[in-house]
Amino acid sequence: MVRLELSSKSVKTVPADAVVLGAARGTGPAPAAPVLLGADDLPRATRSAIARALADLGADGAAGSVHLLPQVEGVSAPLVAVTGLGEDPADPEALRRAAGAAVRALAGRRRVALALPVPDAAAAGALAEGAALGAYAFTRYKAAQRPPVEQVALLVGKPRDKALRAALERARVVGEAVAVARDLVNTAPGDLAPADLADAAQDLARGTALSVRVLTETELAEGGYGGILGVGQGSSRPPRLVVVEHAPRGAKAHLALVGKGITFDSGGLSLKPPAGMETMKSDMSGAAAVLAAVKAVAGLDLPVRVTGWLAVAENMPSGTAIRPSDVLTMHGGTTVEVLNTDAEGRLVLGDALVAATAEQPDRVVDVATLTGAQVVALGNRVSAVMGNDDAFRAEVLAAAERAGEQFWPMPLPQELRASLDSQVADLANIGDRAGGMLVAGLFLREFIGERADGTPVPWAHLDIAGPSFLTTEPYGYTHRGGTGVAVRTLVALAEDLSS
Ligand code: BES
Ligand code: MN
Ligand code: ZN
Repeated sequence: MVRLELSSKSVKTVPADAVVLGAARGTGPAPAAPVLLGADDLPRATRSAIARALADLGADGAAGSVHLLPQVEGVSAPLVAVTGLGEDPADPEALRRAAGAAVRALAGRRRVALALPVPDAAAAGALAEGAALGAYAFTRYKAAQRPPVEQVALLVGKPRDKALRAALERARVVGEAVAVARDLVNTAPGDLAPADLADAAQDLARGTALSVRVLTETELAEGGYGGILGVGQGSSRPPRLVVVEHAPRGAKAHLALVGKGITFDSGGLSLKPPAGMETMKSDMSGAAAVLAAVKAVAGLDLPVRVTGWLAVAENMPSGTAIRPSDVLTMHGGTTVEVLNTDAEGRLVLGDALVAATAEQPDRVVDVATLTGAQVVALGNRVSAVMGNDDAFRAEVLAAAERAGEQFWPMPLPQELRASLDSQVADLANIGDRAGGMLVAGLFLREFIGERADGTPVPWAHLDIAGPSFLTTEPYGYTHRGGTGVAVRTLVALAEDLSS
C-alpha cells in the first residue's frame, strides 16, 4: 500500500521522482490551450515552457490524459507529469481519476508529489483516494513490470491541518479496503475455494474489533440453507456463509450488507460457453466488496453497526451437482424450482437475505454480479440499483455519487413477478428473459424479511456484473481485473447512517 502524506514543500524543490500538475480543458475557441493548475509557485518562464511543451504534444487537458515532461527547467524533480482534469476540474471524481491516472502512469517511480490545487479537505481526500487506488498492482503470480508508486505527497499550505489529515487517513483506509477486494477478485479460482474466502475474512479481522462467524456445510444443513448448499453441492469444495460484524458500543443504526460470493461460476450443469466463463472468478466480487467495506467501516471506527453476510459457494457441474428441475428449500422455508443452474446467485443470496433481515436491521443492501442483462442495459462502468423503497434507493444513489461510483436506478416492475411462478414450488429461479436484471431483483425481493410493524426491511440491490471486472484498457484509477466497485459506495452509505 502506497504511503500518503501532506507536505508544505514547494513544487520547485520537493524531493521526488516526479511532480504532478493538472491541466483543465481550455474554454476558448478550439483548439483552446489547457489551463495549467498547481503551477502558481513556478516562475513565469517555467510555466510558459510547460505550456509550450503541452502545445507541442497536442495536450488539451482532456480527462484521462497524462503527459510526461522530462527535465523541466525550474523544477528539481526529474519529471513533470501533467494530468488532465477535463471540463470540470473542481469535481471530486475528476480529481480522483486525474490523480489515479497520473500515479498509474508513474508506476516504476518511487516518490511522487501531487501539486494540484487543494482548496479544501474534500479535494485532498479525493486526490489521495485517487492516488491510493491508482498505486495498485496484483502481484501474487507475477511481479509487477513497473511496481506501483510507493509514496505520494500532497503539496498543501497547511500540512498539519486536522481536516486535511483526517481526509488523508480516510483515503488510506478506503484505498486499502478497495485493494483487498481487488486482490480477492484477482486471485485464481483454484486458489480461492469457499473455505479460503472464509479464511481471508478471518485473517482480515485478526487484530481488529471485527467478529467473524463461519457457517460450514454442517451448520448450513442444520440451519436449512438450501440455496447455498444446493449451489455448492456440485463442487468438491463445500460452501460457506461468513458473517463479519462491526458492532461498536452506542451504534446509531444497523446496516446489513449481503454479498454474492460465487468463487467460480461455471454455470453448473447449465454450463456456460467458454467465452462466458473465463472471467467468472470475479463472481465473488459482491462478497469481496462487502468484506472490504466492513473492514473499512471498522478502520474508520464509524458509530454504526454493520453486519456483512458473504454467501459463498463454487458453482460446478458434476455427479453431485443440482439438476435443472431440482427443488431447493431455502432458509426460512420457501421452495425454489431450479430451472437453470446458472441462475445461482439469487439462490445463495436468497438464503443470506432471509438470515440478514431476520435480525431486523434498519437497512439491507445486497451486492452481486447477478446478471448478464445488467451488462447489456448499463455496460461495464455503470452499476444498477433496485429496491423496495424509493427513498432508500435514492440514499444509495446519493452515497454512490459522493463516493464517485456510477450507479443508476432501475425499477422492479410488479408485472414481471408472475414469470417467476413455478408449477411445482413457491418460485422458479428464472423468469422472463426480457428485463432479466429486473426479474432477478424481483426474485431477491421475495426473501426480504419484515420488521416488527409488518413492513419489509428497506432494501437495495446492487447489480455490479459489468463494472466489477475490467478486461479492456485501464483508465483513471481503475486497473485491469477486479475493480473493487461498490466498496466506496457501501462505506459512504455507512457514513450516512452513522450521522
Ligand atoms: N454470474 C452470472 C452473471 C454475470 C454475467 C456476471 C456476466 C458478470 C458478467 C450469473 O450467475 C448468471 O449466470 N446469470 C444468468 C442468469 C440467467 C440464467 C437467468 C445470466 O445473466 O445469463
Ligand atoms: Mn451463473
Ligand atoms: Zn453467477
